[in-house]
Amino acid sequence: QGFAQDIEEILALKKAHNAIILAHNYQTPEIFHCVSDIRGDSLQLARDAQNVEADVIIMAGVHFMAETAKLLNPHKKVLIPDMAAGCSLAESITAEDVRTLKAQYPGVPVVTYVNTSAAVKAESDICCTSGNAKKIVESLGVERVIMIPDEYLAQNIQKETGIEMLTWPGHCEVHEQFSAHEVRHYRLANPGVEVLAHPECPPEVVAEVDFSGSTARMGEYIAHSQAQQILLLTECSMSDNLAAQYPTIEFVRPCNLCPHMKRITLSGLKKALQSMTHEVTIPAQYAPRARQAVERMLAVQ
Ligand code: 13P
Ligand code: SF4
Repeated sequence: QGFAQDIEEILALKKAHNAIILAHNYQTPEIFHCVSDIRGDSLQLARDAQNVEADVIIMAGVHFMAETAKLLNPHKKVLIPDMAAGCSLAESITAEDVRTLKAQYPGVPVVTYVNTSAAVKAESDICCTSGNAKKIVESLGVERVIMIPDEYLAQNIQKETGIEMLTWPGHCEVHEQFSAHEVRHYRLANPGVEVLAHPECPPEVVAEVDFSGSTARMGEYIAHSQAQQILLLTECSMSDNLAAQYPTIEFVRPCNLCPHMKRITLSGLKKALQSMTHEVTIPAQYAPRARQAVERMLAVQ
């Protein structure tokens, strides 16, 4: 009852303000399936944010995603319902840290995961997401890169590409919790289960799974899978959203939630639309450099 009324009001408010909602795959089903206009992984949200017609963009996701949308739409109003929706990776590194790394390794290109602040992006040569990290790193044509701040993503990409990664001890607080031991346990308890992992998981976890990819890539894999049971080593709402889409598949779920993603709620979205808050802005002293790093990423096909 409460949800239905919120949904109705959000849809009306979106129309009144010419606003659209971008929702990351980790948003809860009522947000993801009922009120959002564009859904996807970080890469899709960044790509689609380039072609938005609306006057107002509301990010149902975390702060760095709202900043990326703002970088790509400097003249539009970008709102996030809760400014405290952060990310343990984004918080692990500062612009000053990147300047120190560059001074330590002069000439080595800096590839920055999108899960970072705009200030960190501004110190980087190019951005990447988990959906395009391999392609971005290979496009540079070098043997060594600084890939920050996700240590595990860097190690996983180093394994795939053979390119040496100088990295940073940042971790996703959700994905670092999975263990290889846990995967073996789930396989024993569920014979035939297909196991998929996000590349923010530790390399020893990725080594145990059938497929590793971004949230969108895992969704594509499931669309073509014949498996009756799937275990997703990622944030739990992603399994909920896919379970609604594929009712015949059983999603075996260890429920690890991202506390930052969960700060976004239907009532928060409604309030954001009613009060046109909270607006995300990026200081002019580094916005152009941050935009360039994101645009360079989007130009690599
Ligand atoms: P994706 O780019 O795969 O959507 O990942 C974003 C994220 O925050 C994963 O934890
Ligand atoms: Fe950041 Fe991990 Fe949450 Fe994704 S799931 S937003 S990487 S803390």
